[in-house]
Amino acid sequence: MADLKLKVTLKISVLLVTGFCFLLFGNGVQSLSMEQQPYRTGYHFQPPKNWINGPMYYKGVYHLFYQYNPYAAVWGNISWAHSISYDLVNWIHLDNALSPDDPFDINGCWSGSTTVLPDGKPVILYTGSDTMNRQVQNLAEPKNVSDPLLREWVKSAHNPLMTPVDGIDPKSFRDPTTAWLGPDGLWRVLDSRSKEPLHSSTRTGMWECPDFYPVSIDGKDGVDTSSLDKSTKHVLKVSFNDCDHYVLGNYMPVTDNFSVDSDFLENGSDLRYDYGKFYASKTFFDSGKKRRILWGWIPESDSTTDDIEKGWSGLQSIPRSILLSKTGKQLIQWPVEEIEMQRAENVSFKNKELKGGSVLGSLRHYSFSVSFDLSNLKEAELMDPSWIDPQLLCSQKTASVRGNVGPFGILAFASNDLTEQTAIFLRVLVIRADRCIRIPELQIDHSIVESFGGEGRACITARVYPKLAIDNQAYLYAFNNGTFDVNISTLNAWSMKKAQIVSSTKRRKPHLN
Ligand SMILES: *[C@@H]1O[C@H](CO)[C@@H](O)[C@H](O)[C@H]1NC(C)=O
Ligand SMILES: *[C@@H]1O[C@H](CO)[C@@H](O)[C@H](O)[C@H]1NC(C)=O
Ligand SMILES: *[C@@H]1O[C@H](CO)[C@@H](O)[C@H](O)[C@H]1NC(C)=O
Ligand SMILES: *[C@@H]1O[C@H](CO)[C@@H](O)[C@H](O)[C@H]1NC(C)=O
Ligand SMILES: *[C@@H]1O[C@H](CO)[C@@H](O)[C@H](O)[C@H]1NC(C)=O
Ligand SMILES: *[C@@H]1O[C@H](CO)[C@@H](O)[C@H](O)[C@H]1NC(C)=O
Ligand SMILES: *[C@@H]1O[C@H](CO)[C@@H](O)[C@H](O)[C@H]1NC(C)=O
Repeated sequence: MADLKLKVTLKISVLLVTGFCFLLFGNGVQSLSMEQQPYRTGYHFQPPKNWINGPMYYKGVYHLFYQYNPYAAVWGNISWAHSISYDLVNWIHLDNALSPDDPFDINGCWSGSTTVLPDGKPVILYTGSDTMNRQVQNLAEPKNVSDPLLREWVKSAHNPLMTPVDGIDPKSFRDPTTAWLGPDGLWRVLDSRSKEPLHSSTRTGMWECPDFYPVSIDGKDGVDTSSLDKSTKHVLKVSFNDCDHYVLGNYMPVTDNFSVDSDFLENGSDLRYDYGKFYASKTFFDSGKKRRILWGWIPESDSTTDDIEKGWSGLQSIPRSILLSKTGKQLIQWPVEEIEMQRAENVSFKNKELKGGSVLGSLRHYSFSVSFDLSNLKEAELMDPSWIDPQLLCSQKTASVRGNVGPFGILAFASNDLTEQTAIFLRVLVIRADRCIRIPELQIDHSIVESFGGEGRACITARVYPKLAIDNQAYLYAFNNGTFDVNISTLNAWSMKKAQIVSSTKRRKPHLN
């Protein structure tokens, strides 16, 4: 039934913050050394053990905060771990920023966000689970703003700043967003529930990790969360049903009204950041490069037993820059340019014909992009108007259901004999004017593949645990399971260097009462 989403207007002149999203997970027992593990990633951010997120840019340094259990392979004792980077690829782990050791967060320092105040000072606003297991919102500030690494954080003497009032369920009052400043000089922040919701929907389940920010209508630059620029649209993202869903709309700062173009889960416009594994994401405005960056948490698809054996669970997506598409109807995402620094050797070819029913290989790979050139679109099957739900259609028409033009695409994580493979493919159903279809830029890294199709309009992330296609036994093939031929106009593939992810100190375990 109706699920109210909330808007809480803070009537305080303190600032707020945000950061994070939720999650948990286990870690702990390690039976294999990390070097022996085939599924640990090379250039995706992973903590030594578990995981989640809350990014920020401050004085030339990227900060990532994430939910972390220093003790066990299960969710519990949730702290804010802290890692920093100068380039979004190579990371240094610092001591935890927040540990659950005060009455207002003794049962966990849960998700929240960071906000950079107008004077440049950053603050953290996070959910604490208090002595009575109520969810309350707390503030923390850096101990030394001159330290670009922001190593130490001090919780506010005024905590908790917000407690569940007005009949709000104390167990569903969490995940404050980055705050934004209204024209009246008051800060606003979204939280999980409110009497006066900014937006509500009867179609969804419980919301987690909301995010609310402006995107430029015509520009390529990202926009600060507090911008009052009129040439923007606003994005409201919430996490539910294991996916990050968003709507676009117009926000009126004076009245705090938000009118959406279409609601969540609407037929034909079910907008999601990613149609695969991608949850509890956050964006932040990178004031250095004037871009907005999206980062999502990618959980595992294996079992909890496997996670305990591996000693870790979950990783972060590649940071993605996020913009409004030219049509104004959806967002587009692309891996941040810094990822290209990790490219090593490449394999490229142009103008290769891929006959119907054939496979072309084989490349050792890690990251690549490919374009297909189609001259025979008139042969494509006509789109049946009853196929309104692309998710359903794709789940029924898999790579082994042969068509006219397609399915064609890439087999990743393939063993040399193709007994193992992960197909990433296109099936052409609608006749369109453009002949050249640029499909996925893929980022492949040991146990994850992130694909960016349609120039970033459709992203799909999957976790894969190959048994044979491991390390230098992992190959990439192009395949065409359609009746008609297609041409590959260009294909570029690169191997990727391993990122440096190191600890600056031994991670401190929080004090327990
Ligand atoms: C927190 O860690 C301590 C020490 O390992 C443990 O005794 C306690 O049960 C943990 N609490 C939760 C909620 O996991
Ligand atoms: C604050 O950080 C700056 C820059 O790292 C450092 O020079 C200064 O000594 C620090 N101040 C204190 C009180 O630790
Ligand atoms: C703004 O929202 C309020 C409360 O939901 C509503 O009464 C009002 O009509 C809205 N105003 C505009 C301009 O949409
Ligand atoms: C979407 O369309 C289908 C078929 O027309 C209909 O049964 C369903 O209720 C619609 N869903 C929504 C959310 O409008
Ligand atoms: C591939 O590598 C060669 C030789 O290092 C270089 O000249 C070429 O530009 C690279 N191609 C791409 C697409 O990166
Ligand atoms: C191509 O289609 C054949 C026949 O349906 C199937 O056996 C094969 O697995 C398909 N290839 C892929 C990559 O799915
Ligand atoms: C592929 O390219 C060849 C050579 O340019 C051309 O003759 C052929 O028609 C193309 N096939 C398709 C399906 O585009």
